[in-house]
Amino acid sequence: MEVIICPDADEVGRVAAAKVGQVCAAASRPVLGLATGSSPLAIYRHLQLMVGEGRLDLGRASAFALDEYVGLDPAHPESYRSVIHRTVTEPLGLDPDRVHVPDGSAEDLEQAAAGYDRAIAEAGGVDVQILGIGSNGHIGFNEPTSSFASRTRIKTLTQRTRLDNQRFFDSLEDVPTHCLTQGLGTIMDARHVVLVAQGEAKAQAVAATVEGPVTALVPASVLQFHQRATVVVDELAASRLQ
Ligand code: F6R
Repeated sequence: MEVIICPDADEVGRVAAAKVGQVCAAASRPVLGLATGSSPLAIYRHLQLMVGEGRLDLGRASAFALDEYVGLDPAHPESYRSVIHRTVTEPLGLDPDRVHVPDGSAEDLEQAAAGYDRAIAEAGGVDVQILGIGSNGHIGFNEPTSSFASRTRIKTLTQRTRLDNQRFFDSLEDVPTHCLTQGLGTIMDARHVVLVAQGEAKAQAVAATVEGPVTALVPASVLQFHQRATVVVDELAASRLQ
């Protein structure tokens, strides 16, 4: 696991975007793995700059989001379908037909989950997976005790994650209780993984991920087994590393 400590949150985005761009440039049809939430926004801003300045061509790229809420109207501004469209697809000029988000409003969620894993495989697998990390060590919505072998599936969100995400909704009651998320096994299949974290609230989760024992209680710790995992953090998120 490569760990890069940056002076501030914007530099985290720049360094992580450079890594993502490097992987994309080496692939003829790059397949990106996308995270939502606050952490990756600086990466998307820097990728947009790189595309705008002609330093990166994503014209042939496709993308797969990590997760989606269950039971939230896809047109809701906080559905991950909407968030990905607003923060990634449009600014980076990706072809919307090649940007995929799990279907949290499918009638048969298990079938939708299995179909999602198949679609990733049919696209040739993810070249570079962008990840944030929850304050409880989750990646995607793989909450503590998630199986390392898990594939895309339905999960119940913990109270802590619902409280963390309440800021995007009017009240806690409006935060969905379930989601569809890529599994830890699905995420580990990506050929490169770039995890970013900023701020002191992530410091404990980062330390447990990088230096703690590999345990299902800290789902991100499974990345210690990944051959090409890069963790890019600011000084505050790095503050509990030894
Ligand atoms: C989002 C996701 C989550 C977030 C994590 C951190 O697609 O999969 O794992 O990355 O909850 O969220 P932020 O970045 O908002 O602190």
